[in-house]
Amino acid sequence: MDVKVKVDKLNLWYGTNQALHDISIDLYDNKITALIGASGCGKSTFLRSLNRMNDLVESAKIQGNVIVDGKNIYDKDIDVVSVRKRIGMVFQQPNPFPKSIYENVAYAPLKHGIVKKGSDCDELVESSLKSAGIWEEVKDKLQAPGTSLSGGQQQRLCIARTIAVKPDVILMDEPTSALDPISTEKIEALMLELKKSYTIVTVTHNMQQAARIADHTAFFHLGELVEYDETEKIFVNPKLKKTEDYITGRFG
Ligand SMILES: Nc1ncnc2c1ncn2[C@@H]1O[C@H](COP(=O)(O)OP(=O)(O)OP(=O)(O)O)[C@@H](O)[C@H]1O
Ligand SMILES: [Mg+2]
Repeated sequence: MDVKVKVDKLNLWYGTNQALHDISIDLYDNKITALIGASGCGKSTFLRSLNRMNDLVESAKIQGNVIVDGKNIYDKDIDVVSVRKRIGMVFQQPNPFPKSIYENVAYAPLKHGIVKKGSDCDELVESSLKSAGIWEEVKDKLQAPGTSLSGGQQQRLCIARTIAVKPDVILMDEPTSALDPISTEKIEALMLELKKSYTIVTVTHNMQQAARIADHTAFFHLGELVEYDETEKIFVNPKLKKTEDYITGRFG
């Protein structure tokens, strides 16, 4: 297993409130890692630290290293825009731009100069929508607004948009919690497909989902990483009582 992202002693404060305490974790390439833990334990905060989205929160102060492919993304000479391109993010609420389906996917690759307008761009839009498992549903209405799709379709459109810039890592913050069971199943199947090409880190409150799709699971509690292991070990034979209490629903 190759380590794609190495997090080393990460601490984060919002003002004086410390939200992450000394998090060290190795995230593996071509695997899905699930982050679990009670509301407010820091899962989203941790996820956002992996692509410097917390830079956008004025009160946030961060310490420690996040090393992606051997380079610390918090180094002074790092270009934050390129970090967010390499480490894409999918949110809980599907959030297509108020543009056409086509433009939702084409916008960032055109902006980053990955493709030029024309057939190259058309091909990238098609292949991204195919990879996101939504091509068949939208191929005849690429000029319709992204927001005219159903929630589950919008989420797959957002995944297509993320893939289109050819990232290395895909972060997902509760990507299915706003979706019905069928759309959820589609996204889960898609994640299993995508992990062949990407490192995926996902947050979920759904223990069955973590058990179904994640290779590794990290249990957070009050801003600390309590236990991290292969998913089966976490669910069948956790080392710590705190972990067992959480996954069996005794707290959280
Ligand atoms: N932008 C912010 N400004 C100040 N405090 C914040 C901010 N975002 C999160 N926090 C605080 O940081 C802590 C961790 O929040 P975070 O959103 O990371 O939790 P979470 O595990 O993702 O919870 P949930 O499961 O409810 O999404 C909480 O105490 C929260 O109030
Ligand atoms: Mg959250």
